[in-house]
Amino acid sequence: MKTVSQTTELRQQISAWRKQGLKIAFVPTMGNLHAGHISLVAEAHKHADKIVASIFINPMQFAANEDIGNYPRTMDADKKKLIAANTDLLFTPTADIIYPKGLDKQSYVEVPNVSDGYCGESRPGHFRGVSTVVCKLFNLVQPDVACFGLKDYQQVQVIQTMVEDLSMPIEIIPVATMREQSGLAMSSRNNYLTAEEKVTAATLNKTMRWLAEQLKSNKDFSALMAQAKEKIDASGMKTDYIHISHARTLNPATADDNDIVILAAAHCGKARLIDNIQVKL
Ligand code: PAF
Repeated sequence: MKTVSQTTELRQQISAWRKQGLKIAFVPTMGNLHAGHISLVAEAHKHADKIVASIFINPMQFAANEDIGNYPRTMDADKKKLIAANTDLLFTPTADIIYPKGLDKQSYVEVPNVSDGYCGESRPGHFRGVSTVVCKLFNLVQPDVACFGLKDYQQVQVIQTMVEDLSMPIEIIPVATMREQSGLAMSSRNNYLTAEEKVTAATLNKTMRWLAEQLKSNKDFSALMAQAKEKIDASGMKTDYIHISHARTLNPATADDNDIVILAAAHCGKARLIDNIQVKL
C-alpha cells in the first residue's frame, strides 16, 4: 500500500490508473479503524480494480462543544489493517492541505432537509462539515464508487442527496452495519465504553429491534417512540432521540409509509452512540 499526504502525489497516482482504464473505489474514514471499516474495503473490492482509503480527522464536522483533540488516533494500527485488506493507496492529508485558508474562509457544501434533524440538530454544523469534506475528497480522488457504512444512516442519505443534487458521477454504495454479538453497532466511539457500559449499550439496539417488531401491528408511532425512549433511559443510558422516519426523506413516518427507518442516538457513559434499523412494512 502506498501512503501519500500531498494532493499532487494523490492526483498523479489516480491519473496513472485512469490512463490504464482502471476503476477506482474510495473508502473515506477518520481512522481508528475496526471491522466495520474493513468491511467497507472488502465491499469496495467487489466494485473496482483499485482501492483508495483516506484517514482525515475532519475538524469541520466537530460541533463547537465536541473535542477533536480526544478523537482516537491509531495510524500505525490502521495502516496494518488497510494493508491486510489489500488497500492500494492511503491518503492522509493534514488540515492545512484540506483547508489551506482555514475553516473560516473555506467554501462549503450544505445539503438541506436531510441534514436538518436528528444528529443534525444535536450536532449543529456536523453535516455541513461532512458534506464539504466528502465533496472535496471526491474531487481529489475522483472515484467511480464510494463505500459508506449504514451505521451512519443519516450521513449516507446526506451524501447520496449531495451526489444526486450536484450531479457527481459517483455511485454511493451503502454497506451493512457490523455488530458485536450483543447487537451493539461497531463504532470507534465504543472505545470510550467500560465493560459494564458495553453491556448497557446493547439495550439501544435491543429496544430498536423491539420497536421494529411492534411496527408490524401498531401504527401509533408517538406512543411507540415514547415507550422505546423509556426503555433506553431505564437501562441507564440517556436518549438523545428515537424516531420512526421515512427511509429516504427522513421525514417523520406516516401510517401510509412502508419504507421506514428507526433512527436513534443515546448517551452511554462518555460515548454518544447512534444506531438505526430499516423496516419494510
Ligand atoms: O464517517 C466518517 O468517518 C466521516 O464522517 C467521513 C465520511 C470520513 C467524513 O469525514
